[in-house]
Amino acid sequence: VIFLSRPEIETWRQAGEEALANRVGPGRPTYTGRANLEPMFDYFIGTLLAAHGATAQGKEWLLAGAQHEAGMFSNTFVSAFLERTAGRFIMPAKAFEDPRPFVHFASVPLMVRARELFLEHASHSLPAFRRPFRILDIGTGNGALLANLLQRLRAHGKVNDMAEVLLVDASPAMTDLAAKTVAEALPGAPVRPLTARIEEAAGRLEGRYDVALMSLAYHHLPWEQKKAHLERLKAHVDHVLVFELDANNDTPELHSPELACSVYQSYGRIIDFVFAHDAPVAVAQACVDFFLMTEQISLLTQPRGRRTEYHMLRGQWHELFRGTLGTDFACAAESTCFADESLDLFFMHYGR
Ligand SMILES: C[S@@+](CC[C@H](N)C(=O)[O-])C[C@H]1O[C@@H](n2cnc3c(N)ncnc32)[C@H](O)[C@@H]1O
Repeated sequence: VIFLSRPEIETWRQAGEEALANRVGPGRPTYTGRANLEPMFDYFIGTLLAAHGATAQGKEWLLAGAQHEAGMFSNTFVSAFLERTAGRFIMPAKAFEDPRPFVHFASVPLMVRARELFLEHASHSLPAFRRPFRILDIGTGNGALLANLLQRLRAHGKVNDMAEVLLVDASPAMTDLAAKTVAEALPGAPVRPLTARIEEAAGRLEGRYDVALMSLAYHHLPWEQKKAHLERLKAHVDHVLVFELDANNDTPELHSPELACSVYQSYGRIIDFVFAHDAPVAVAQACVDFFLMTEQISLLTQPRGRRTEYHMLRGQWHELFRGTLGTDFACAAESTCFADESLDLFFMHYGR
């Protein structure tokens, strides 16, 4: 993953201010940094202009960036999105209200392979549970990952009887679907769906859960809320399992070069994988527009606190867990589930 240096951040920031003040087209202000980062710079200026209502000029920058993009196509994806939406750079949906875009995303080979490694690593790392097992899935989505994890833990002889499978999600359509998925995969499992925001869930827990699963869900909270929620959650869990995207999307402020640099790489690569997957174009496009592009636009148009995405770098996750869970917990495992030059999906386990 590429990071910008301090001088680069400063130069980009000034260029952004100049482009906003003068609403100029591509090439002005002139780019002077690392040559291979020029498409990323065009994306920064293009999305900055689009976020400020200058979508026509923004699109010119994106199209210019698209012409010299190689291996990474964020300028192409955002300019094509603007084409589809008649230049409206606004979130086209409320992500996860309809589960289907996410369900399709989870079927893309990149995710299938990465999650297979997660399941293997998590089931090696967890101890065997001799008492009836209680698990809590925070931001469960369609529940498929949890169902697969439970099946895997059973296959490895780590879990036998189950006392509770608690499914928490803010989207009622997701909790319904998750309850159905888990009940079908594990007949007789004591499933308890809870439609609630993560922030409220800890206050509604009773007793101790053996495992809390957080897969691609905790990143919907900013650092301050992650910390506050974890403070309340820690008394109720023995093991925390994380599957996440390693990206610098939490602390950078709206319209900062650092945020654009991170979003350019992570969302660019993920969208590329979705379009590369063999599926009807309409299905792939709905997955991109109503899930990944919706999140991307939130990151590029909404301030911290309002936006919906706050992926963190692995080091920040360790800092969060060490600082909040304290010395009762330790990092029991960490591994890479997928990595290339610009995208990193990882597994992390903190346990008592
Ligand atoms: C990217 S999906 C991940 C689903 C699942 N954990 C998985 O990995 O397959 C994120 C889920 O978190 C839920 N979510 C987002 N923000 C939430 C919040 N503040 N409280 C509860 N659920 C939330 C969404 O509705 C969605 O189902």
